[in-house]
Amino acid sequence: MVDLRGRDFLKLLDFTPEEIEHLLKVATTLKKQKHNHESHMYLKGKQVALIFEKDSTRTRCAFEAGAVDLGMQATYIGPTGSQLGKKETIADTARVLASMYDGIEYRGFGQDIVESLAKYSKVPVWNGLTNEFHPTQMLADVMTIREEFGNLKGRTLCFCGDARNNVGNSLMVVCSKLGMNFVCAAPKELFPEEKLVKECEKICKETGGTITLETNIMEATKGADVIYTDVWVSMGEPMELWQSRIDLLKDYQVNKKVMENASPKAIFLHCLPSFHNIDTSIGKDIYEKFGLTEMEVTDEVFESSQSRVFEEAENRLHTIKAVMLETLKK
Ligand code: CP
Ligand code: NVA
Repeated sequence: MVDLRGRDFLKLLDFTPEEIEHLLKVATTLKKQKHNHESHMYLKGKQVALIFEKDSTRTRCAFEAGAVDLGMQATYIGPTGSQLGKKETIADTARVLASMYDGIEYRGFGQDIVESLAKYSKVPVWNGLTNEFHPTQMLADVMTIREEFGNLKGRTLCFCGDARNNVGNSLMVVCSKLGMNFVCAAPKELFPEEKLVKECEKICKETGGTITLETNIMEATKGADVIYTDVWVSMGEPMELWQSRIDLLKDYQVNKKVMENASPKAIFLHCLPSFHNIDTSIGKDIYEKFGLTEMEVTDEVFESSQSRVFEEAENRLHTIKAVMLETLKK
C-alpha cells in the first residue's frame, strides 16, 4: 500500500517504481474527473506557497490551477518582491512559509536549495525545476507515453540534445525506475554526469531498464518509440553559451529524417517552451545572431501528427495535482 502523506517531492531517485506508478494512477483518475467536470476538492481549506526564482508557464499554471481544482488557495512568490535570497536565507524562509502554508513549491537554481528548503520545512516541499532535476515534468511525460502505447516497460525513449540538463537527467532516472530503455543522442561533452549514469545503471539492474549513450544521432534514434528534445541552453545559463551549444548540438536537431529513422509509430515529446520558429524574441535574436530559423526541433516535426507536446503539457496539470493530493491528504 503506497502512502505518500507528508513526503517531499524533490527528485525521482527518492521514489520507488511502485510510488511513481501510484502517482500516475491518481493523475489518471484526476484527469477523468476534470474532463467530466466532477468536483474533486479533496484538499479544501488548505493553502500552498509557490516560489519561482525562474520563469514558468506550465509549472506555475499547473500548480495554481491544480490547487484551485483541489479546493486550495495558492500564493505566487516571484523572482522579485519577496525577501528570499536578498535579506532572508532559504532556511528562514522555509520555517516562515511552513508556519502559514500546507505545502511549498520551489523552482530555481541548485538542487541543494530545494533540498535545504525541505530540510527546514515541516510541510511537504515540491521541486518545480532545479538546475539538476525536473521531476514533475517526468510524471507528465511517462503519463503521455503510456496513454499513447498502453505500457511503459521495454519502451525506448531517445533524448536528443543537452543530456546533462535537468530534463535529460530526469528522463534517465524515470526510464531507469520504470524499466524503460533510455538512449541519449549527444556529443560526449554533453553526456549525463558519470555518477548519475552509474546510479541509474544500478536501478536498471532491478527494473530491466537500459541506458545507452551514443554520439551518432541516427544510431541513437533507430526504432525508438519516443523522440524527446529540450532547449540547447537552459534557464540560468549565460547567453554567451549559445554559440558553443549551437556548434555542439546542430547535428542533434530533431527533424523529419530523425523521425523517419525512429519506429513508424514513434511520437515526439518536448517539455516546452521550444524554439521551433522565430516567432519569439529569443528565437528572433538567435536568428539575427546565428542565422538559425529553428533549433532543437524543426517546425515541421513540432506541428506534425507525431507530435504530442500539447497532450504532454496538459498532463502537467493532472500529475502535479496528483503530487499535491497524495502528499497533502489526511
Ligand atoms: N515544461 C516546463 O516546465 O514549462 P514551464 O517552464 O513553462 O513551467
Ligand atoms: N532545460 C530547460 C527546461 C525548461 C522547462 C530549462 O531548464 O530551461
